[in-house]
Amino acid sequence: MTRFYITTAIDYANGPPHLGHAYEKVLTDVVARYRRAMGYEVHFVTGLDEHGQKVQQAVRKEDFDEQEFVDRIAVQFRDLCARLNISNDDFIRTTEERHKGVVQQILQDLYDRGDIYLAEYKGFYSVRQEQFVFEREKVDGAWPEIYGEVTELSESNYFFRLAKYQDWLVEYLQTHDFVFPRFRQKQILEFLKEPLNDLCISRPRERLNWGISLPFDPDYVCYVWFDALINYISAVGYGTESFDSYWPVDYHVIGKDILVPSHSVYWPIMLKAIGLEPPQSLLVHGWWHISGQKLSKSTGITIDPLELADRFGADAFRYFVTREMSVGQDSDFSPELFLSRYNSDLANDLGNLVSRLLNLTSRHCPDGFPPAGALEQPERDLREHWDRTCEEALRLYEGFQFHTALEKTFAFITGINRYAEIRAPWKLAKSQDPADAERMRTVYAMMGEGLRLATALLVPVMPETASRIYGLLGLGEPGLWKDELAWSTRLDGRRPGEKAILFPKPQP
Ligand code: ME8
Ligand code: MG
Repeated sequence: MTRFYITTAIDYANGPPHLGHAYEKVLTDVVARYRRAMGYEVHFVTGLDEHGQKVQQAVRKEDFDEQEFVDRIAVQFRDLCARLNISNDDFIRTTEERHKGVVQQILQDLYDRGDIYLAEYKGFYSVRQEQFVFEREKVDGAWPEIYGEVTELSESNYFFRLAKYQDWLVEYLQTHDFVFPRFRQKQILEFLKEPLNDLCISRPRERLNWGISLPFDPDYVCYVWFDALINYISAVGYGTESFDSYWPVDYHVIGKDILVPSHSVYWPIMLKAIGLEPPQSLLVHGWWHISGQKLSKSTGITIDPLELADRFGADAFRYFVTREMSVGQDSDFSPELFLSRYNSDLANDLGNLVSRLLNLTSRHCPDGFPPAGALEQPERDLREHWDRTCEEALRLYEGFQFHTALEKTFAFITGINRYAEIRAPWKLAKSQDPADAERMRTVYAMMGEGLRLATALLVPVMPETASRIYGLLGLGEPGLWKDELAWSTRLDGRRPGEKAILFPKPQP
């Protein structure tokens, strides 16, 4: 089997998870489950970024020590994964020994090779972004909003030789497809038009006491980005024999705010310096806004994803964010939009198809799903609609166009409902003509198989619903897509389950 290694960003452990974090995990999970359905051996890692200034500041507001604080946050993030049915194989925390050891090993290695050096540095520093910032970045004489408070600092620090690798990186980016969506690759090359400064990778302990010690100078801790990025290799056993079967990673899934420079400049260069290949690809998503404003822990504008999942089910949440956001673009969240998608797509189109089919077959098919008889025009149309849907959806899944894949899948579900209206099996059931009885059986076979196929396509996005519908059709768990997506006769003789309401109308 082909290995497929995929990661999310590791979230700052300075507050509870919000919609943006939940989205990124769902998006990555959709890719992971899609790949599993395609037969890949997937390894999916998510986790927490637990060191650095932001965490230290968050802790100071409360009466905990740092480790206690991040332990508590870790419970919340793991819980988020569980409740959203995220199928991650691992959850890495940067305070774990397996991670700290690798960071120190890499620091020592780079120091020994002369790629890390000590120098005096004087400059402006953004506490919020935890990085030095430069005069030229000022807009109309003021620091950009995203930097928060900027202070002047002068201190000795350790630097990593980024500049040395600039030409290599430019050449690499000019000759490799590195980022999805494509237009973002230009953004990186644009950034690289300016000469790179070496990266300050340390903070004096007196200023930041929450981080991994530099092995060659314990008066300093490691800068949080340098620490955090390494999670992608520490999680898969950097330095052990099995590591080579994971690296290079297939996709790092990240938001657009952390593409440049961290993931597209620091990280490939860090890897190059230690003799590893760059990531194969970065999958970069946009931001969720609420009424036009970016939600984030720093601005205090948030939405509790778990409240939605609790009220409407994990799959409804997963469906909404996947259906609504075109990967790479920004999206606006509103409770009205959520409700309208829930009601029209899930409760009406899909939910009604399921309850109607169970209802009718329980009355008219005492021996379970009947085999299909002769196909007439409406049946042939439905089968063609499926062939088209399947082909398009596969292409769209492969190209990260999940919102459109869902749109097509639901158009097919609507197509099954329309087919049922045209054929009106409840009328055929009353006819005395044996040809109509045969037609009726064919209609149920077609509706059942159509529903099964649509359901199989929904597995990456709505895994719980898919299992449930398969169960209601009298089947076991859906398996690999090469088997599941072909029109088949496997429902013949299966006994559909009891009446079920998959997506109840919400209580006001
Ligand atoms: O950046 N919409 O952590 P983080 C969509 N620890 N995605 C959003 C979002 C929003 N409104 N807000 C945040 C960090 N995200 C670092 C990463 S990786 C080695 C270290 C996304 O908690 C954001 O784009 O600020 C990022 O991919 C992830 O959530 C974690 O953000
Ligand atoms: Mg952030």
